Amino acid sequence: MSLVITGASVLGEKTQDLYVDDAGLLVDEPPLGAEVLDADGLVALPGLVDLHTHLREPGREDAETILTGSRAAAVGGYTAVLAMANTSPATDTAEAALRVLDLGREAGLVDVQPVGAVTKGLAGEELAELGLMARSRAKVRVFSDDGKCVHDARVMRRALEYVKAFGGVVSQHAQDPSLAGPTACCHEGEVSGRLGLPGWPGIAEEVIVARDVMLARHTGSRVHIAHVSTAGSVEVVRWAKGQGIDVTAEVTPHHLLLTTDLLEGYDPTFKVNPPLRPGEDVEALRAALTDGTIDAVATDHAPHARHDKEHAFVDAAFGMIGLETALAVVRTAVPDLAWTDVARVMSSTPARIAGLTDHGSLEVGTPAHVVLVDPSASVTVDRADSVSLSRNNPWHGRSLTSRVVHTVHAGRVTVRDGALTS
Ligand code: DOR
Repeated sequence: MSLVITGASVLGEKTQDLYVDDAGLLVDEPPLGAEVLDADGLVALPGLVDLHTHLREPGREDAETILTGSRAAAVGGYTAVLAMANTSPATDTAEAALRVLDLGREAGLVDVQPVGAVTKGLAGEELAELGLMARSRAKVRVFSDDGKCVHDARVMRRALEYVKAFGGVVSQHAQDPSLAGPTACCHEGEVSGRLGLPGWPGIAEEVIVARDVMLARHTGSRVHIAHVSTAGSVEVVRWAKGQGIDVTAEVTPHHLLLTTDLLEGYDPTFKVNPPLRPGEDVEALRAALTDGTIDAVATDHAPHARHDKEHAFVDAAFGMIGLETALAVVRTAVPDLAWTDVARVMSSTPARIAGLTDHGSLEVGTPAHVVLVDPSASVTVDRADSVSLSRNNPWHGRSLTSRVVHTVHAGRVTVRDGALTS
């Protein structure tokens, strides 16, 4: 296998051809007889890495499968995704993790790395097989009950202690159920009051973030905060980092651009957990991504079948798809972020957090995972164009800046001119 990528500006800086053969990225000589990928005028970044993808297999293959989710990831410029554990059954055993890993390999488009559940059945009570998952061929390093908060402080403490032994991390869906309430479906504030929808206050997230950074300090372990959505959470993470606590945080593309007033039309496409917040929170999230307080962008790609999403707002499922649009949303929401910073928050840092040492870099000798982006394109999103099985696309009809043109996974072109090659 050999490939020459011509004319790309690497990380938005120097224009340089990239050579690839079986050993990975090379310098010096173009390999003989190589396939040529024209990247004139495009920006080359290391393949994107998503810390937070819902692939729905096993259990909800009507919404997404590992294959269709891998296709959406490749189209979005991803070369690795972490598959969340809230499948049915949950990924709470080594056997379940291996099945996700192997189905990802069979799909062959991106590296699908399973996230292990923190607790059995995501029930929040008994720890799952953390050690067995970590020691298995799947080498699970990220554990999360995402969709649910590990709300019991004792369980969270034990999980943090346990994963420390093998350099793992707990990714927390920070939401205190006693403050959020079982029927809450949007941000608690002026808009929810006017629309008569039961809301979650930002404090339900912030108290768990505050508790968990203190538990990370106490245990000397690593904690990761999934989909941070409020200015208050940002403040806590900033403080904790200043104290030397081993905390990392992610933000979703949708929390960087969409606000709670979109709920005025009661459109369930905009129902997501954590909920869309007011503009002040969005501003704080953008600033935190720029100054490094928030480490990574993660999609929380959450496909749902029509019969789960197309309901009255209060009854619809939480979540929105996002793999295919993530890069363009980040460029649109935070246009001043340099390409080197885009590579940091969407590739190298998520790869480091997840322990995926083969990803996140364009260094010579590393496996060739590359995305090529047209920085000046403007694309109007049409939900019908998605390769995901689901259509809960909040970007439908919006114009976004930049476009993923080609994706290369392990030296193989998976997406050429915006279309899957297989
Ligand atoms: O909106 C969401 N959807 N938030 C989550 O945390 C879970 C996800 C899902 O699985 O649908």
